[in-house]
Amino acid sequence: MPSKVFSSAIVGLDAQPVEVEVDLIGGLYAFSIVGLPDKAVGEARERVSAAIKNSGFLPPQKSRQKLTVNLAPADLKKEGAGYDLSIALGYLLASGQTIFEPKAKIFVGELSLDGNLRPVWGIISTALMAKEQGFKTFILPKENAKEASLIRGIAIIPVENLKEAVLYLEGKKAIKPQETDINEFLSELKYAVDMAFIKGQESAKRALEIAAAGGHNILMTGPPGGGKTLLAKALPSILPKMNLKEALEVTKIYSVSGFLKKDRPLILERPFRSPHHTSSEAAIIGGGNPPKPGEISLAHRGILFLDEAPEFHRDVLESLRQPLEEGEITVARTKGAYTFPAEFILIAAKNPCPCGYYDDPQRECACSPSQIAKYQKKLSGPLLDRIDIHIEVPRVEADILLGEKVAEESEKIRERIKIAREIQENRFMAGGEEIFTNSEMNIPKIKKYCQIDSFSLDLIRKSLKTRALSARAYHRILKVARTIADLADSSDIKSDNIAEAIQYRTRKEE
Ligand SMILES: Nc1ncnc2c1ncn2[C@@H]1O[C@H](COP(=O)(O)OP(=O)(O)O)[C@@H](O)[C@H]1O
Ligand SMILES: [Mg+2]
Repeated sequence: MPSKVFSSAIVGLDAQPVEVEVDLIGGLYAFSIVGLPDKAVGEARERVSAAIKNSGFLPPQKSRQKLTVNLAPADLKKEGAGYDLSIALGYLLASGQTIFEPKAKIFVGELSLDGNLRPVWGIISTALMAKEQGFKTFILPKENAKEASLIRGIAIIPVENLKEAVLYLEGKKAIKPQETDINEFLSELKYAVDMAFIKGQESAKRALEIAAAGGHNILMTGPPGGGKTLLAKALPSILPKMNLKEALEVTKIYSVSGFLKKDRPLILERPFRSPHHTSSEAAIIGGGNPPKPGEISLAHRGILFLDEAPEFHRDVLESLRQPLEEGEITVARTKGAYTFPAEFILIAAKNPCPCGYYDDPQRECACSPSQIAKYQKKLSGPLLDRIDIHIEVPRVEADILLGEKVAEESEKIRERIKIAREIQENRFMAGGEEIFTNSEMNIPKIKKYCQIDSFSLDLIRKSLKTRALSARAYHRILKVARTIADLADSSDIKSDNIAEAIQYRTRKEE
C-alpha cells in the first residue's frame, strides 16, 4: 500500500509542507524520485538504500520491488538532502517493515550511508511552518534540535539515526522533546571592537553615534590608515541589542543560508557584513535559483560595511538603491517573486582618490585630476542621496595615538542611543506612523516632525549657498538634526542641532 509522510521545502525564507508518497510494486528493482527534485534530492536513492540496509532493514534492491517516490506539490523545486528521512520512513511503511501513524508528524534530515542523521539548513523556518500548519511533532537530526526548539508549541524530537527514529515512532523508545530556555543564549554579548580602543577621532565617533541613534547611513572619506575600517567595526558595539523578534528574523535568514552555528542556534548580535569589493551583484543582493539571501539580507537589522566603496562594481552599487529605500529586496523569478528583508545601516568608507593622498598635508597625491574625478563619481548621486551623514576621517596624530587618554566605552554610548531610539519610537507611534527611526522619514514626515524656526531656516539657506549644497541636502540636514535633538532629549530642533547637521555634508559629495 502506498504510504504518505510529510517533509518540508524552503521557498525563499519560508517553509512549505511537502507530501512524500512512496509506492511499491512488484517486478524488477527500480527507484525513482519525481516531483522536481534537484541533484541532491535525486541522490537520495543511494543514501537511502544504503542507510536502510545498514540499519538492519530490507532494502528495495533485495525485495525486488519498483519504488516510486513522489514529492508533492510537483511544481515546487525540492533542494538538498533533507528529504532522506521522510523517503526512508515512507519506504519502510509502504513495505510493511514498520507501522506507525504518520499524521501530524513532519520529518527532516539527511541520511549518511550508515543510517546516521546529518543536520540540514532552514530548520527554524520548517519549525515555524509546521506549528502554523497544525503539525504536532517534528522529528529531526539531533544537531538541529536546539534551533527548532526556539519555536514553541510543537514537540521537537531529536533522533540520531534511522533506527532510533523507527523505534520512537513504533513506541518502543521514548525520546524527550527538546526544550530550550532562551535565557541560555541571552548571556553578555561580545563585540569585536569597543569604541574605547579607538584613540581620538571624537568627531567621527560623534557622527557614528548619530548614525546609530537615527538609523542613518554614513559615508567616511579619509586617507589610508586613518582608522575608517576600525571605526566601522566598532559600530555594532553601540547599536541597541536586538529584541527577540528581531533575533528570530535574523536567525531565520542565517538558517536558510546554512550559516547558523550548531552551538549558537539563536543570533543575538546584530550582523556586521563586510563583503569584498569584487563581490557579484547576486552575492550582494541575493540570487540563484531558487534565490538565496545576499549580503544585504545577511546584514538585516545590523550593518553592511562597504570598505573602499568606489572599488565595487557600479551595477552592484546601483542595485543597493531599492533595498536602501524599502528595507527589503525582491528577486524576480519565472516561478514568482521572492522577497527578503534587508533593513540595515550602510556604512561606506573611501579614500579621497585612488592613491589615497589627495589633499594630504604630508604626502603628495599621485593621481591625475581626471582619475580623481572619475573615482569620486563612482558613487552616484542617487546612491549618495540615501546616505544622510558624510564625514571626513583624518589621520590621528601620533601624540594622540600613543597617548594614555582612555576613550569612552561603547556601553555608555549605547545607553544614550537606546534612549534616543525610544524617543523616536514613541513619537512615531503617537503620530500613527509605521516607522521607528528618523532616517525612515519621507518628505511629508520630515515636514511634520522637523519643524524649525526662521533663524534655523536662514542658517540652512546660507549654508546651501556658501557650501554649494544641492537642494536635496536640505531634507537630510533636517533628518540628522532631528536625531541630534533626540540624543539631547529635546523636543524642538534647535539652531545648534541644525549647525551640527550641516557639518555632516561635505561639498565634494554633492
Ligand atoms: N584612532 C585610532 N586608534 C587606535 N588605532 C588606530 C586608530 N586609527 C588607526 N588605527 C590603527 O591603524 C591601523 C589602520 O587603520 P584602519 O582602520 O585600517 O584605517 P583605514 O581603514 O582608514 O585605512 C589599524 O590597525 C588600527 O588599529
Ligand atoms: Mg580600511
